[in-house]
Amino acid sequence: MTSKQFDVIVIGAGPGGYIAAIRAAQLGFNVACIDEWKNGKGGPAPGGTCTNVGCIPSKALLQSSEHFEHASKHFGEHGISASGLKMDVGQMVVRKDTIVKQTNDGILYLFKKNKVSFFHGRGSFVKAVDGGYEIAVTGAANETLVGKQVIVATGSSARALPGVPFDEDKVLSNDGALAIQAVPKKLGLIGSGVIGLEMGSVWRRVGAEVTVLEALPTFLGAVDEQIAKEAKKAFDKQGLKVELGVKVGEVKVGKKGVSVSWTDARGAAQTLEVDKLIVSIGRVPNTAGLNAEAVGLKLGERGDVIVDGDCRTNLPGVWAVGDVVRGPMLAHKAEEEGVAVAERIAGQHGHVDFNLIPWVIYTSPEIAWVGRTEQQLKEQGVKYKAGTFPFMANGRARALGDTTGLVKFLADAATDEILGVHIVGPLASELVAEACVAMAFRASSEDIARICHAHPSLGESMKEAALAVDKRTLNF
Ligand code: FAD
Ligand code: NAI
Repeated sequence: MTSKQFDVIVIGAGPGGYIAAIRAAQLGFNVACIDEWKNGKGGPAPGGTCTNVGCIPSKALLQSSEHFEHASKHFGEHGISASGLKMDVGQMVVRKDTIVKQTNDGILYLFKKNKVSFFHGRGSFVKAVDGGYEIAVTGAANETLVGKQVIVATGSSARALPGVPFDEDKVLSNDGALAIQAVPKKLGLIGSGVIGLEMGSVWRRVGAEVTVLEALPTFLGAVDEQIAKEAKKAFDKQGLKVELGVKVGEVKVGKKGVSVSWTDARGAAQTLEVDKLIVSIGRVPNTAGLNAEAVGLKLGERGDVIVDGDCRTNLPGVWAVGDVVRGPMLAHKAEEEGVAVAERIAGQHGHVDFNLIPWVIYTSPEIAWVGRTEQQLKEQGVKYKAGTFPFMANGRARALGDTTGLVKFLADAATDEILGVHIVGPLASELVAEACVAMAFRASSEDIARICHAHPSLGESMKEAALAVDKRTLNF
């Protein structure tokens, strides 16, 4: 069999891989992208975790469940009455699947538009050859490809509790958590990280009694403490039960449900009986199918591909991006790395500023931040000024009926450069973009304070929090 020759072969079509493939094609390279994800009919489903069982479907369910919560709990305030309100979970899941399919199709279209050759199957290293690497594709497509440059973008998978495999019926990973067909009466989650809070919110809103068991004694330890505290208050009020400082013991899966033995923060033995259990305790890099050893690609203890700050592996011409390497497991981080690698292959100076990667947790209230937290600045001995502004004092938030939370600016005490922006409240996911732009241009809080923001808008809370750094808020 003759092998097909490419300038660049990308293994994996998640946000890291498909974006790297498109950028490389834009730069004039002959590009192949290989991905093994199958849709329900066995066809290709590019987009990776993000599109199929991550960012996109979770946000679809969050939206549907938020509509239901608004209709059942908040329409009355607006003078709207609705009777006989019902949640059709099957339809919610069908809508989610439609959005996933549209996204898969969109990526296939983008491959065509940019002349990226797509291969549906598993990609694995065969050997190094003169001027590149031989990659075998097995699955729907069976081919041998040769690429001068290879970008590994194979992503990550959910980590299971030791001895408790996912059956996706009672013990669910993110995959099963996004495909539950009827509201479980009692739902348990292990881990109150990003997935725990987002998925816990979805199923609580549509009527499940939700309990989250978290090993760490602090809630959202990576988040600015003041913001995490405010978020916890809101979740408590909503009835999302989060137990901190727990030790999870035996997990028994029976015909009707799951029984979890756990020890609470005071050391008392407890049992949680639930219909379904979502395990969201982090993710592990996907390198098992790569045949890395065939070419001597260096992997770390977690099975991650070892890379330097520029995503170079130990092999010349082999790069790796996204969840399969170090750093936060976020779609936009994967995309930025993919673009930067394609540009480096083209001899350009691709760059990712790892200090300016925003985080968003899409709960209600949303939590979003960029830059350093107050506790990090204290630990690092940086002298800073802080300014906060509550959404309660923002006219648009009051009109929206969503006044929980605040915006917090942290700026250097001497230079006033913005060091971190932390938001808990309505549309924090959108507001944080202004902070990213400001920090990328190394703006001061005074810069934001002097920019005209539309009235009434949630964005005015950004301006007011910036003004608060200099203790001169106008509306609070
Ligand atoms: P992936 O998206 O995992 O894609 C890797 C692809 O490679 C997959 O299609 C896989 O099948 C394929 N593959 C693996 N091995 C091979 C092989 N040998 N041959 C061929 N194909 C292979 N991030 C955010 O930024 N925002 C969010 O809102 C968000 N929500 C999330 C919600 C959930 C429930 C989960 C689980 C994750 C979420 N994430 C979110 C994280 C985000 O999904 C990941 O950071 C992102 O998908 C990583 O992109 P990637 O390209 O590195 O890998
Ligand atoms: P996570 O790392 O966010 O949270 C895992 C939590 O589980 C931690 O709080 C940890 O202390 C806890 N934990 C670990 N082992 C435990 C145990 N044995 N018992 C009890 N608690 C335990 O991981 P999660 O939620 O699985 O998400 C994985 C990744 O996916 C995230 O880190 C994030 O990178 C990405 N993601 C991003 C989203 C977003 O950007 N909005 C949404 C969902 C996921």
